[in-house]
Amino acid sequence: MSERKSIHGEWSSGMAFFLAATGSAIGLGNIWRFPYLAGENGGGAFILVYLACIVLIALPILIAEITLGRRGRESPLNTFRRLALDEGRSRAWAGVGFIGMLSGIIILSFYSVVAGWSLEYIWLSLRGAYQGASADRTDQLFSMLTSSPWQQMFWYTLFLALTLIIVARGVRKGLERAVWIMVPLLFVLLAVLVAYALVVGDAHAAIVYLYSVDFSRLSGHAVLLAMGHSFFTLSLGIGAMIVYGAYMPNRLSIMRAAISVAVADTVVAVLAGLAIFPLLFARHLPVAQGPKLIFASLPAAFGSLPFGFLFGAAFFALLTLAAWTSAISIIEPVVSWLVELGWSRPRSVLAVGSVVWMSSMLIDFSLNVWSGITWQGRTLFDLFNFVSSDIMLPLGGLLIALFAGWVISERSLRQELRMNRGALRLWLWVLRYVTPVGVLLIFLNALGLIRGAL
Ligand code: PHE
Repeated sequence: MSERKSIHGEWSSGMAFFLAATGSAIGLGNIWRFPYLAGENGGGAFILVYLACIVLIALPILIAEITLGRRGRESPLNTFRRLALDEGRSRAWAGVGFIGMLSGIIILSFYSVVAGWSLEYIWLSLRGAYQGASADRTDQLFSMLTSSPWQQMFWYTLFLALTLIIVARGVRKGLERAVWIMVPLLFVLLAVLVAYALVVGDAHAAIVYLYSVDFSRLSGHAVLLAMGHSFFTLSLGIGAMIVYGAYMPNRLSIMRAAISVAVADTVVAVLAGLAIFPLLFARHLPVAQGPKLIFASLPAAFGSLPFGFLFGAAFFALLTLAAWTSAISIIEPVVSWLVELGWSRPRSVLAVGSVVWMSSMLIDFSLNVWSGITWQGRTLFDLFNFVSSDIMLPLGGLLIALFAGWVISERSLRQELRMNRGALRLWLWVLRYVTPVGVLLIFLNALGLIRGAL
């Protein structure tokens, strides 16, 4: 067990860790990204591949990240350096923490734009802006929002400000307090919305669409997306779970915590589909719309269903809460690193926030004033979304698996994980062989196919 102490503080209980890590895991990934990916890429078949990726690739890395974090008890970058030096290895491993911070900044810049849309939609719902509107009209409403750089800017600036305020208050007073309120609220909202969708929507059509297994709709590229998404949804590859692990009390079981987080996250992803598709099918609305699915189509369903404006507002409040508890975990790795360099927390938050704000602006403009600038058919928004989650996160995760599996000694891992030898061996075996080979195979397969497709 590590005797080190984190200078940033510690979660007050196992529940606090669970809420924080679950809050990080459950985010736009579950409610915005997963449903459109699953819908477009083979429904049940995609979900099966995704589940396999969670169990064989993502969960072992989640356990590794929390373990590394708790052993190092510093920001991800310094944790890599310190643990590598402990084992007599090169300090260059700190580079993995650096790549992670970069990925985090890229992710947060499109994440905050999408969360900004969500905030605006709470407002639009309450105002009754899409009451009785046709699908064409709600689609238009969404285009109007994305084509206005200033309107978007207002909302993501607000979202970033809300995120920064929490992180600036530190681990106990900021992050922990926020997740104690927001994560339970998120579960309640989701339960209410699923019940609503099942009652007023077409549950049968949704279940057939989402869960019928059709492997002919599953391409090699879809397998890459399923894997990328398993990293994205469990917040892996950028150090978020490393830094949350650094604040985890020694007495808690890492294995149990990691499994609970993965289960909660998966349940929410599956339930989110049930809160969305029954409504779309009930109104025969387009379902294969990619990233704009829940903004362009879903309001047309809410707009014509009983108490739709209220449930619509609840839906976007759920999305905003989910995004918020994730966003705080995306910048914490960078903020904790700056604090370790000697900066005050508020100053670090401000610095990271400004960088993210500026790169959000790039994303914002890529949807309107610069929408003509594309690379192989993708706007900057699509590129950031794809490259960060489907390339950078798996790459970061792969390096983390190699670091935990091959650089850190089995003795150190056993001290930190304190579990029976058989289970530890099994985990380590998967982490050393199955996880890296899986990631590499999926990469190679997809690279061939991506080139073919372009
Ligand atoms: N897990 C979050 C989601 O599903 C996104 C995230 C990615 C958060 C990486 C932290 C780190 O939306």
